[in-house]
Amino acid sequence: MIWQVLLFVPFFLLGGVAGQATYSIPEEMSKGSIVGNIAQDLGLDVKRLQSGKARIYTEDKTEYIELNTDRGLLLVKERIDREALCGQSTPCALHLQITLEDPIEFYSVHVEINDINDNMPTFKKEEMKFRISESAVIGAKFVLERAMDLDVGVNGLQSYSLKPTDNFILKLHNQQDGSKKVEMVLQKYLDRETQDHIVLTLTASDGGEPQLSGTMRVEISVLDVNDNAPLFTQETYTVTVMETTPIGTILSTVSAVDADEGSNGKVVYSITNTLDDVPSLFKIEEETGIVSLIGKLDYERTQRYNIHVQASDDGGLTDSCKIIIEVTDTNDNQPSINIMSKSKSVTENSRPGTVFTIINVQDADSGDNGKVECSIDENLPLLIKSTSNKFYSLVTDSDLDREISSEYNITVTCSDKGVPSLSSSVTLTLQISDVNDNPPVFERRSYEAYIAENNAPGLSIITLKAKDADWNQNARVSYILVESSINGVPVSSYVSVATDSGVIHAVRSFDYEQIKDFQFCVKAQDGGSPPLSSNVTVKILIQDQNDNPPQILYPVQTGGSLVAEMVPRSADVGYLVTKVVAVDVDSGQNAWLSYKLQKATDRSLFEVGLQNGEMRTIRQVTDKDAVKQRLTVIVEDNGQPSRSATVIVNVAVADSFPEVLSEFTDLPHNKEYNENLTFYLVLALAVVSFLFITCLVVIISVKIYRWRQSRILYHSNLPVIPYYPPRYSDTLRTGTLPHVYNYEVCRTTDSRKSDNKFGRDGMQNVLIPDPSCTGTMQRIQNPSPGISYTAHSRNPHPYSHCFRYLRCK
Ligand SMILES: *[C@@H]1O[C@H](CO)[C@@H](O)[C@H](O)[C@H]1NC(C)=O
Ligand SMILES: *[C@@H]1O[C@H](CO)[C@@H](O)[C@H](O)[C@H]1NC(C)=O
Repeated sequence: MIWQVLLFVPFFLLGGVAGQATYSIPEEMSKGSIVGNIAQDLGLDVKRLQSGKARIYTEDKTEYIELNTDRGLLLVKERIDREALCGQSTPCALHLQITLEDPIEFYSVHVEINDINDNMPTFKKEEMKFRISESAVIGAKFVLERAMDLDVGVNGLQSYSLKPTDNFILKLHNQQDGSKKVEMVLQKYLDRETQDHIVLTLTASDGGEPQLSGTMRVEISVLDVNDNAPLFTQETYTVTVMETTPIGTILSTVSAVDADEGSNGKVVYSITNTLDDVPSLFKIEEETGIVSLIGKLDYERTQRYNIHVQASDDGGLTDSCKIIIEVTDTNDNQPSINIMSKSKSVTENSRPGTVFTIINVQDADSGDNGKVECSIDENLPLLIKSTSNKFYSLVTDSDLDREISSEYNITVTCSDKGVPSLSSSVTLTLQISDVNDNPPVFERRSYEAYIAENNAPGLSIITLKAKDADWNQNARVSYILVESSINGVPVSSYVSVATDSGVIHAVRSFDYEQIKDFQFCVKAQDGGSPPLSSNVTVKILIQDQNDNPPQILYPVQTGGSLVAEMVPRSADVGYLVTKVVAVDVDSGQNAWLSYKLQKATDRSLFEVGLQNGEMRTIRQVTDKDAVKQRLTVIVEDNGQPSRSATVIVNVAVADSFPEVLSEFTDLPHNKEYNENLTFYLVLALAVVSFLFITCLVVIISVKIYRWRQSRILYHSNLPVIPYYPPRYSDTLRTGTLPHVYNYEVCRTTDSRKSDNKFGRDGMQNVLIPDPSCTGTMQRIQNPSPGISYTAHSRNPHPYSHCFRYLRCK
């Protein structure tokens, strides 16, 4: 039907034109289609056509159209393609000449070929590919390929469209040649992260009816740009850890996402804290975001850490988050004990409740872990008291006694209430200082000691010992002789006590025959203030020694006179002639006497009773026995060694006194002895008188010399230096001597009555030194003016050499 319309319209328009016919046909008509009734249009008869041998002539000899002379029609002979025939030029027409013969005539025929929309717009390529960065700016232009449409006019390319139009719009520019430049312009930012691949369809349409169109794919790859920062999945992470968490423990993992791709999307984590100690305690793994512990946590130092973590991509975009580490307390701190103040010692008489130490206890933990309680051993007389928070005082609880325990080792143990509990302890030593509360106590209730008579003066008799339970000075015992008198003589002239050692020394030689025992008191006194003391009784028993020989009381020994016992010749056996009587002032064995006959004229006649000293006859007296019998009896005591005495007993064996007398009167040697004695006595008297006069002269001259000498000394103003004999100690008190004993031996002219005399207390010597110490020294001895002496010395050296002691008389 379309063809029909196209066919008739030119007819109608071009009818009436003579000599020339114009037709308009659409292209692409099928073969044989009628172009036009030429016979009719040119006013020619069909017969004329046949007769005139009408033909079609074309300049280029193309034969698209043929002439049907039978019907007078122009018919399509070949397919007519306007695009092939004319290309883009318009109008497109075929110019024909129809020639006739007989007569020759010719007619021009124009056959206008009208375009039909038989071509659609086409693109040379099916698709175009672009790589566009997502950072491309709005307005960026991208030239697209143009489409081609062979048709012309409305059938030609009319319009383009690009779909979808989210990011790009199409912009067409008219070119000078009438064609169009096709561009797509970015009108909305690309985002690789939402769409990394965009496919657009460019459609080119013509204006034909029906409209034809061609398409091309435009593929756009969106190139990544680091336009996305990493993004943490959480802004804050909270982790709770124990402070004892070991190093290396993973605490948390943070993660950030970066929408970019490739290196732009690769996230690296780091800790950004700088000021605090977080970097030294925590570590984050760069790639994985694993946060682990690399240091030791301490709740007591920090309870909470804020770790600032940064995530960054390669492009330098970052995000940050915070990890809050909450540290929880564990009982990891022992209580620490500090001694605030401490007295080293308390006196043993301190009242209960005396504070001697204050301690302070700290526990760094918190809560129950930091609550501390302290205690000490229970069996001490001490208490621990909590005074205020964290302070404790140690006090005495009961009476103390240094003598029971002089020091206490106090272990203070403090434990916290954590589970498990931690504790620590400290040991203090408390010294109990001494108070003089114990008197010295003698080891024995009383002392008894024996000393043999005739002892050497200064002999130690016994050692007393008293102990004092106190300490040091309070326990330093001094022994003091308590002043008393024995038979009116001060006890100090009998014994002395060594103050330090308690040794009792005899001051004199004792004589058992004069005193058998005596007792006195010794006081032991300590050095405390005030001192304490105690007494003890010491009894000294003097032991007898065999120092006295037996004394014969009967028969009395007379010098010249002769005594004889008479024994009648008629005496019986066992006749008691006489009894030797002897005594011994010693006692005991020393006074146990035995009698023996030592010598006898006739041993067979007499015997002496061993025990009783009775002299008896042991046989009948005969006439042959001499009248004069001389017997020597020895009396021995039983001492060790024994002492003895002898007595001569004259016995006359006679019946009458004259007989006896005649026997005993003749003793001529006795008279001679008496004469000799008288001579010696006269001689001795003369010698003694001479010596006496000589002495008198010497003494007087010495006295005069001294008197003159002392006058010289008083005129010189020399100081008077008190002199103490060497080894003389001033500590002498109440008869107590130190270790050294000072006594002088004084001898009378009668050596048999030798006696010892001891230096006296308070004896003071005054020494007046010689100005040059080379001459005479004078010493005056007090308080006995009767025994004052002068000494002379040439020795110029020390005092001890400058003068000499002088002895009694
Ligand atoms: C106290 O401790 C000290 C030193 O360890 C020790 O010498 C002393 O004997 C102790 N005292 C007591 C009463 O245990
Ligand atoms: C010791 O003896 C003296 C004198 O005999 C006496 O005064 C004193 O009280 C006694 N002291 C003691 C502690 O017995």
